[in-house]
Amino acid sequence: MIRALLLILLAAAGLALAAAGLAWNIDRREAVRTAQELTGGNVEKGRKALHAYGCVACHTIPGVRLARGKVGPRLEGLRERVYIAGVLPNTPENLIWWIQHPQSVDPKTAMPETGIGPVDARHVAAYLYSID
Ligand code: HEC
Repeated sequence: MIRALLLILLAAAGLALAAAGLAWNIDRREAVRTAQELTGGNVEKGRKALHAYGCVACHTIPGVRLARGKVGPRLEGLRERVYIAGVLPNTPENLIWWIQHPQSVDPKTAMPETGIGPVDARHVAAYLYSID
């Protein structure tokens, strides 16, 4: 009797977990699609570019392995931000520009020009808009 009850409980817990996982997956897929539409970039290529251009050395970035930098701010919630780096109105084109040329926006910023080009900057912007 107790065993049957335990089994039922386990099954219910399993189902709840599966449902939560499914909901998370759907949310994530939706966020990726919206971010890619907004920027014209590719989220997965953006994740790789964040490593290739050393962004991870200065920034902590959710969902990016080994991105634990503490020099700049955590790159999260960009989607909901009003300003980028406190100076540029937050639009996809402005974010793509900032990623390439922070010094042209704010010569005093500690963020360097990393040499990232417009195509990879677009991918990175897609990634940053896809995370919470
Ligand atoms: C040498 C350290 C350093 C590197 C490398 C670096 N950043 Fe930054 N980044 C900063 C700092 C410091 C700031 C804060 C700038 C400010 O507010 O003036 C910043 C700000 C930002 C912001 C604005 C964040 C906000 O909260 O508004 C974004 C987006 C950003 N960086 C993306 C990147 C990307 C993408 C790369 C790689 C291509 C990169 N950074 C490389 C130091 C760095």
